[in-house]
Amino acid sequence: MRVGILISGFGSNMIKLLESCEKKSSSASIGLVFSNNPRADGLKYAHSKGIKTVSIDHKDFKERKLFDEKVNKTLLDNNIDFICNAGFMRIHSEDFVNNWFNRHLNIHPSLLPSFKGLDTHKRALDAGVKFAGCTVHLVRAGVDEGPIISQAATSIRSIDNAESLGSKILKLEHKLYPICLQLFAEKLITVSNDKVSYKAEAIKKLEEFKV
Ligand code: GAR
Repeated sequence: MRVGILISGFGSNMIKLLESCEKKSSSASIGLVFSNNPRADGLKYAHSKGIKTVSIDHKDFKERKLFDEKVNKTLLDNNIDFICNAGFMRIHSEDFVNNWFNRHLNIHPSLLPSFKGLDTHKRALDAGVKFAGCTVHLVRAGVDEGPIISQAATSIRSIDNAESLGSKILKLEHKLYPICLQLFAEKLITVSNDKVSYKAEAIKKLEEFKV
C-alpha cells in the first residue's frame, strides 16, 4: 500500500509513520509527503530520508476546490492509494473526501466526538473533563467527523496545563497512529456503511496498546 502523508507543520506524527513503514514487516510504504505549507519542517525531514516531497501553497488558489484538485492530481501522479493527514490543517472539499473515501485517515488531538476543531487541550481543561486523548478516524466531509478507528486516553491531573496535556497526548498519538495505519495496510480493518470491523489480530494489536 503506497501511502501519502499530508502535513502542515512540524510533522512529528509523520516521522512516526515513516519509521513504522521502514520496518521490514510493514505492508505500507510512504510514497509522498505533501504539504500546503512550503515552510513545513516535516518536508525537510522527509526529504533527508529520501522520501519524495511536494509542497503547494494553498494561498496561491482562489478556491478550496481548485487547490484540492491539484492535491488530488499530485497524489494520483505519485501512485498513492491511501492517505494519512498528520497535522494537516486544511479542510477538504467534499469531492476530495469522496475521492479518498475509506482510504483516508486523520489523527485529532481529542477524544472525539468531543472537542472537534482547534485548541483542543485548552478546551478540555476549561470543560473540566478528567480524561483526554487522541483519535484516529476515517475522514468524512464534516470537520473531525468520520468512523473512529481507535483512541488513546490519558487522565488529566490538576497540575496540567494546555502545554503539558498536549505533550502527553502527542506521545499517545505517536504510538496510536502507526498501529492504525499498519492495520489498514494488513487489511485487518474493514469498513462497510461506516461500521468498522476488526479482524481478531487487529483487536489483539490494539489491546496490546494500553495506556
Ligand atoms: C497533532 O497533535 C495532531 O493531532 C494535530 O496537529 C498536531 C500536529 O503535530 N492535528 C490537528 O489538530 C488536526 N485537526 P505534528 O505536526 O507534530 O504531527
